[in-house]
Amino acid sequence: MTAASGVAGRAAVVSGVGAALPPRIVLNADLTARLDTTDEWIRSRTGIARRHIAGADLSTTDLAVRAAAQALANGEPVTAEAVVVATTTPDRCCPATAPTVATRLGLTGIPAYDLAAGCTGFLYALATAAGFIAAGNARTVLVVGVDRLATLPGPEDRTTVPLFGDGAGAVVLRRGSADEAGALGPVVLGSDGTGADLIRAPRPGALHMDGGEVFRHAVDRMSTASRQAVTAAGWELADVDRLVPHQANSRITAFVACQLGVADDRQLSNIAETGNTGAASIPLLLARSAADGRLKPGHRTLLTSFGAGLTWGATTLTWPDLSHPPS
Ligand code: COA
Repeated sequence: MTAASGVAGRAAVVSGVGAALPPRIVLNADLTARLDTTDEWIRSRTGIARRHIAGADLSTTDLAVRAAAQALANGEPVTAEAVVVATTTPDRCCPATAPTVATRLGLTGIPAYDLAAGCTGFLYALATAAGFIAAGNARTVLVVGVDRLATLPGPEDRTTVPLFGDGAGAVVLRRGSADEAGALGPVVLGSDGTGADLIRAPRPGALHMDGGEVFRHAVDRMSTASRQAVTAAGWELADVDRLVPHQANSRITAFVACQLGVADDRQLSNIAETGNTGAASIPLLLARSAADGRLKPGHRTLLTSFGAGLTWGATTLTWPDLSHPPS
């Protein structure tokens, strides 16, 4: 399915980006003290060297507020007219996270809701936010991807504990033109419930994952969705300056880049520092790469993700110059 975007004058344009990581860092060496694993195994099989883990004093809502506040502060001066929070690990079943996030940002009264689509949640949230803008229901939407995935594995499970970290990332979307930098291209989304058992967590601390099958699906789905998104945008794969894949495993993203013919120097990654942060993964990587200069204004950027559900998606944008907002 390809979500509509770019109704004339009602495209969704990225106008701010922010990120939040818990201050506590857990190294692979910290895990080897309590799990039957090694730093070498974790690095070579996943690319992960460390991850940020939230303590009991830092909730999903706290992380979302921090990333959102940064996205609102460091881009164009806008006020959000709606808030969408993508998460699989909310602080509570009910109520949703987004109304509290909105209120803590001083935005009481606007539409605010959560959605869950596993690690693809951020792309699903971008698509629904773009729909709000295209329909004329909001001129600006704050989109947050936040997860505390480190709460899901059983504490003794060496196959899943090393993979996950906590964090949040956010972007602000505003109404604009399809031909300006920052405008989202069509968003390709998909799901397959026959794979629901491949990654499932009936409750925190009880994650089950068929790593090999997930690996295979992740490569196939992200590669296919990426091709579809590039075609829908009217691009060629050779046009892609930066590939921003969901950070699940460096071997998965290397396979995806290889299948798409995207060279290493055009692929962005921060998995070594964060592990898999779920719905936060893509906006965290965007914020980090924009800050350190690996992602520059004018770069034609391809985002793609895969997650529990199964779910997957991809979209494109030309990275905007957030330091020089249009007057
Ligand atoms: N340390 C040491 N050995 C480990 C280990 C660890 N942390 N975790 C697993 N092993 C062992 C296994 O027990 C197995 O041992 P065996 O051969 O004696 O049975 C061996 O390593 C190989 O396990 P396998 O599962 O085949 O490894 P793998 O190469 O597939 O890597 C994952 C495992 C989980 C890293 C990999 O499958 C993966 O990343 N899958 C995708 C996960 C993911 O991205 N999930 C989220 C999607 S959004």
